[in-house]
Amino acid sequence: MKYKIAVLPGDGIGPEVMKQAVKVLDKISSKSGVSFELSYADIGGIAIDNHGEALPQSTIKVCEQSDAILFGSVGGPKWESLPPDMQPERAALLPIRKHFNLFANLRKATIYEALVSNSSLKEEVIAGGFDLMMIRELTGGIYFGQPKSIERRGGERVGLDTMIYKESEIRRIAHTAFKIASKRGKKLTSIDKANVLSTMVFWREIVTDVAKDYPEIEFNSMYVDNAAMQLVRNPKQFDTLLAGNLFGDILSDEMAMITGSLGMLPSASLAEGKFGLYEPIGGSAPDIAGQNVANPIAQIMSAAMMLKYSFDMEDAAADIEKSVNKALADGLRTRDIASAGKKETILSTDEIGSEIAKRI
Ligand code: IPM
Ligand code: MG
Repeated sequence: MKYKIAVLPGDGIGPEVMKQAVKVLDKISSKSGVSFELSYADIGGIAIDNHGEALPQSTIKVCEQSDAILFGSVGGPKWESLPPDMQPERAALLPIRKHFNLFANLRKATIYEALVSNSSLKEEVIAGGFDLMMIRELTGGIYFGQPKSIERRGGERVGLDTMIYKESEIRRIAHTAFKIASKRGKKLTSIDKANVLSTMVFWREIVTDVAKDYPEIEFNSMYVDNAAMQLVRNPKQFDTLLAGNLFGDILSDEMAMITGSLGMLPSASLAEGKFGLYEPIGGSAPDIAGQNVANPIAQIMSAAMMLKYSFDMEDAAADIEKSVNKALADGLRTRDIASAGKKETILSTDEIGSEIAKRI
């Protein structure tokens, strides 16, 4: 068995954390006999420097010839003065999502048992931990709706975007969300703003209709402002959440923050079928790039999600998760997740990567 992986380390801490994920994949490969053929390509700022654009055709080609994309992170101060539509985040991330039709973005927010005290919420609110999953629609909504411009109207300048969802887009992401919920806690909350926006009245109507196909799932809809509140009041009331592109963007950051371990959370962006792009939720962290101190766990867990969703290697994915938890239980930490006064060993990016690989 052989899988082709497009490896796009990108900018900032991307390359150094990616190395750790590759170490882990090497270990999985020698244990399982499955081989991974890695093809490296530039994306983001480094691609602007080397090829003049954030998402070069050559990179798209490498991805097209692969079974999955393992993505690091893009962006940094060096490219921040470019015009907005040339900046790495917008000029690499959005078009790669669109090109590969990666409509379903899965973002996990889990409290790792060893790290409960890192959460920004009180211990009594999160006692016992929580495990949330956001399913965010990723190729539609206000991010891509047309028209979209800054122009003159009635004697002054206006900025405008269009929030629009086709019925087929809502049905497709709703089915994905219900299917994922059925493999988790069998509970799905759809997020909208149906008290104000027509797009969202329609969203609620269609998702509620799809819910009829999944009678075993406990389903409810919630306004986005209330959901933002409920997530910090009592996150354990949720299991799987479904949202459009914009609300999913905002709430998934909130979910990540209340876990207190932003450097540890992976995500998957899936197309129909098995193809997907896997990336850490946190950014490129240019302030600590190149210092061998970044936390590689999100990148490693992203590789685990790739094994699970694109290659059907569920056992290998579970193996990686277990070895991460084992390393944490053994007191191994990068400095971002260290808590003062505890019996812990602070390791470099490279060291903790090796320790995790060793435990597989
Ligand atoms: C994310 C990011 C991107 C988004 C930006 C960088 C374009 O915030 O992946 O959540 O808004 O989708
Ligand atoms: Mg975001």
